[in-house]
Amino acid sequence: MERLIEIKKLTKIYPGVRALDDVSFTINKGEVHALVGENGAGKSTLIKILAGVITPDEGEILIDDKVESFSHPLEALQKGIAVTFQDLSLFPNLSVAENISISRKIEEGDMVLDWSEMKRIARKAIDELGVKLDINKKLGYLSIGNQQLVAIARALVHDAKLLILDEPTASLAKEDINALFRVVNLLKKRGMSILFVSHKLDEIFEISDRISVLRDGKYIGTYPKEEITEDELISYMVGRKVRYTRYDKRKRQEPLLEVKNLSKKNNFKDISFTLNRGEILGITGLVGAGRTEVAQAIFGNNVPDSGEIYLEGKRINNDSTSKALKTGIAYVPESRQTQGLVLGKSLADNITVTILDRITNGLNLLDKRLKTGIVREWIDKLNIKPAYPDMQIDQFSGGNQQKAVIAKWLAYNPKVLIVDEPTQGIDIGAKSEIHKLLRDLAEEGMGIIVISSELPEVLAICDRILVMRRGRIAGEFTGDDVTQEELLNKAITKAG
Ligand SMILES: Nc1ncnc2c1ncn2[C@@H]1O[C@H](COP(=O)(O)OP(=O)(O)OP(=O)(O)O)[C@@H](O)[C@H]1O
Ligand SMILES: [Mg+2]
Repeated sequence: MERLIEIKKLTKIYPGVRALDDVSFTINKGEVHALVGENGAGKSTLIKILAGVITPDEGEILIDDKVESFSHPLEALQKGIAVTFQDLSLFPNLSVAENISISRKIEEGDMVLDWSEMKRIARKAIDELGVKLDINKKLGYLSIGNQQLVAIARALVHDAKLLILDEPTASLAKEDINALFRVVNLLKKRGMSILFVSHKLDEIFEISDRISVLRDGKYIGTYPKEEITEDELISYMVGRKVRYTRYDKRKRQEPLLEVKNLSKKNNFKDISFTLNRGEILGITGLVGAGRTEVAQAIFGNNVPDSGEIYLEGKRINNDSTSKALKTGIAYVPESRQTQGLVLGKSLADNITVTILDRITNGLNLLDKRLKTGIVREWIDKLNIKPAYPDMQIDQFSGGNQQKAVIAKWLAYNPKVLIVDEPTQGIDIGAKSEIHKLLRDLAEEGMGIIVISSELPEVLAICDRILVMRRGRIAGEFTGDDVTQEELLNKAITKAG
């Protein structure tokens, strides 16, 4: 195979950490190349260098055997490297057409925006992807999956040779993932190379040709997909063997949270269930089935039209999140960067933001030692890396930021904890640690609702599982012999 990109001895050092340490490997023309590694391994750092967002301390990048350096994303784009970051960096208030063609217009120095020309460029790109999208629609109205496609169309417009996708499927519904993979395969056939970052091993094995592994900033190796097993790949990433523990189902009988006939137009209908003390209740189903909407209703963020909620036998009326928190209900949201973190503040401040009253004394003075102790405890329990309480939250890797959000709500020590996709973007080693933590918290009496699309995860840790489909509860499962197929069938087929 002909090579497109050669990454040569890249090193990037941040205070106290070698994010990349002498990394070299090549990306071939027309291949899907997966980049994997634990949280903080250096994947996003490598991508940011390729994309011209940051510059390396040492090393170089060759495109078609020529050394190239770029200090700005537009320069990288001109050299044929296009990136869709997790946040996509699109403009929600502009139309699809504008989003696709605007950077090309800027790049060409053409500040007079010819509307029909822009539309023509956009339509061509969308057609090439073989998808259906209304280019006149405001981007903000599209699903995340379709926004993803817009970001890729934008790359196409620039004749990108390398398209980089950083965790593109983290918040996509199954059918959107399929659409994305169809597009990726199409681009590959046309000779484009794709660099794909993900923590989802099944997807990596489905879509990629070769897989490169980073560990603690160091390059471990590149492996053709056919020549490596999932277990081997995990051991290269983590340096040890990791398996999901499937915990025994517990029977709990003491109702903690009762939801009765909860309905909201266009959201969910007739939702009734009980969460017992000391139990982990799973809610699964396709993205868009209404799981998050129900969770938000319990958390006071989405007032239902009708129905009742009881906590410890007492009717509660949560019409605000602060009320919900006071009653002892906490919710760890799905999109943590926008909903979960105070950017610009330290890790320690983020972890303790929910418990300020507990760490200040009667005179409103902060008890620093208490705060430090609590922060240390959670950094330990969730293995947040690097273990620097005073480092700005923005400087942690994506997965470690997510751990910080989880820590902040666990520190609050609620009676009922609702976690939405708790291990999305979290590496496989840390995942099993978080599973253990949730099981321990339930053992101590907390009631936990886990919303997850990842069926192995639901099966591993939940005592009982509800499946939602189109806003309704389609089925309930208990027992140790439930299978993924049964859950999936309930999630997609009509109730018989
Ligand atoms: N701006 C920064 N300042 C200081 N340290 C940083 C900065 N950006 C990244 N780092 C550190 O560099 C290391 C690598 O981070 P990177 O984001 O590349 O990891 P990653 O492999 O993408 O992880 P994840 O799977 O969690 O997204 C981490 O230890 C991170 O804390
Ligand atoms: Mg990352």
